[in-house]
Amino acid sequence: MLEEKILVNSDFFIKTIQEYNDRANKVKIINSVHNDETLKDISIYLRIRPLMPNENEINSFETCFPNKNNPYKAHIYEPTFRFDDKPIIKSQSFDFDYVFGPNDDNKVVYEHSIHNIVEISLAGALGVVLCYGQTGSGKTFTINGIEEYLALDLFNKMDKVINDMNLKSLETFNERPFEIKISFFEILGNQCYDLLNNKEEIFIMEDKFRNIAIKGLQEYDCITADELLKYINIGFSHRRTKPTQKNDTSSRSHAICQIRIHNTVINQANDGIIYLVDLAGSERHAECIQARTLATMGLKQHIHIPFRNSVLTKLLKETFDIESCTRPCTTIFIANVSPNCLDYSHTLNTLRYSSPLKVTQKKGYDPLKKKEYNPKDPSTWEYKHVVEWIEKASNGAIKPEFLVPNKENGIQLCNIPEMEFIRRCLLSKGVTEKRAKLFYLKLWGLIVDCRTKQRKAKLSSKPKPKNTLSQDE
Ligand SMILES: Nc1ncnc2c1ncn2[C@@H]1O[C@H](COP(=O)(O)OP(=O)(O)OP(=O)(O)O)[C@@H](O)[C@H]1O
Ligand SMILES: [Mg+2]
Repeated sequence: MLEEKILVNSDFFIKTIQEYNDRANKVKIINSVHNDETLKDISIYLRIRPLMPNENEINSFETCFPNKNNPYKAHIYEPTFRFDDKPIIKSQSFDFDYVFGPNDDNKVVYEHSIHNIVEISLAGALGVVLCYGQTGSGKTFTINGIEEYLALDLFNKMDKVINDMNLKSLETFNERPFEIKISFFEILGNQCYDLLNNKEEIFIMEDKFRNIAIKGLQEYDCITADELLKYINIGFSHRRTKPTQKNDTSSRSHAICQIRIHNTVINQANDGIIYLVDLAGSERHAECIQARTLATMGLKQHIHIPFRNSVLTKLLKETFDIESCTRPCTTIFIANVSPNCLDYSHTLNTLRYSSPLKVTQKKGYDPLKKKEYNPKDPSTWEYKHVVEWIEKASNGAIKPEFLVPNKENGIQLCNIPEMEFIRRCLLSKGVTEKRAKLFYLKLWGLIVDCRTKQRKAKLSSKPKPKNTLSQDE
């Protein structure tokens, strides 16, 4: 009924939305504090898909737009009616780390948001991409597109990384410095099935050392980008879908493509991992993401991250369990929305839900300045403290000029992925790979101890009267 009324009044709504949107685009941007060049722990993007041909046919119109002059803002206009049935528009704006519009194709999305993940994963980090949104909003379209570009980019970047990391100079260099392994599985409720092995059931488990293991999962070695793409396509074709009113091939399960990057030259380092996750429907995992961001913001109270609540967040434990994680992790969350006026309420829900996940620091917040130097907490170290620690902790064996050639501070030191860290240590004469690995673990031992102490201190401090999330002053 309301839908019909909206479509009948489409001429009015299209004209008025256009006027509102023109005005919104003219508003001057004051002091935009975004910096997309730095790779954050968690970034929240919005992708607004175009209207589909069948939506155009029924006189539908767009209600959600990216701001033309501010790539971090999106506007949504509600087509509604006054008590006397006069059509009116209500507008709202939302902020993101970046907003992709209907004219941005998968290549633009890949190059802007994902490509950094490839580089850091080749150096041993963990990269996670999550696509979220209502049915028919473009999650599978986005993740599928990303996977294709990523497969090509991964193989192209390898040569660059081999050169940048100077791997050829290492004694253990062989013809195949990187082994790329793919697995593809789906999560349906609490059950998981291997999409590259006849949908055999697999099990995600935490071992006694609290590491996550996937029992029964088949991995396939890929020598070329084409091979990687072949497995991705097979995985997709086996995924459970069911036609819905909005989408002929609606996904019923979470699909996870796991790409593992093993460095055969620096064997001691943990493998880099990329998870590409196409979420089914709009199940809520974001509480973990928001809690994770808040937990690293230096708040006074302890933030619980409920990652054990679902199979998916348990699988992504390293991303969420910051106390036991021993490597840098980057998560890219892409909220997908439809601009169709008939999807208005779903789109608004997705915006309301995902925009606050982008937790920004208060203006002027400088993590280093706010924290007093503590020799046991690397996040408080300036460059000079980093140098002191390297010399002392390695008994002079590891030269700071090799490990922190860009005068990295403590936070930057912790962000060096494991392979790169070990490689830099190996530049100091006489240092073996094993010793370099132990040195890496020594640093991460400090980080983990520190996080555990902070949690305990926060838990034992008196609860505050109000449950505010305000930041430390
Ligand atoms: N950015 C886009 N450009 C062009 N077509 C798109 C775009 N996003 C989505 N589509 C098209 O819209 C339709 C629905 O997209 P898709 O299957 O990706 O939705 P979904 O979010 O995965 O839905 P479900 O939750 O039901 O699986 C598809 O036909 C897809 O090709
Ligand atoms: Mg889908």
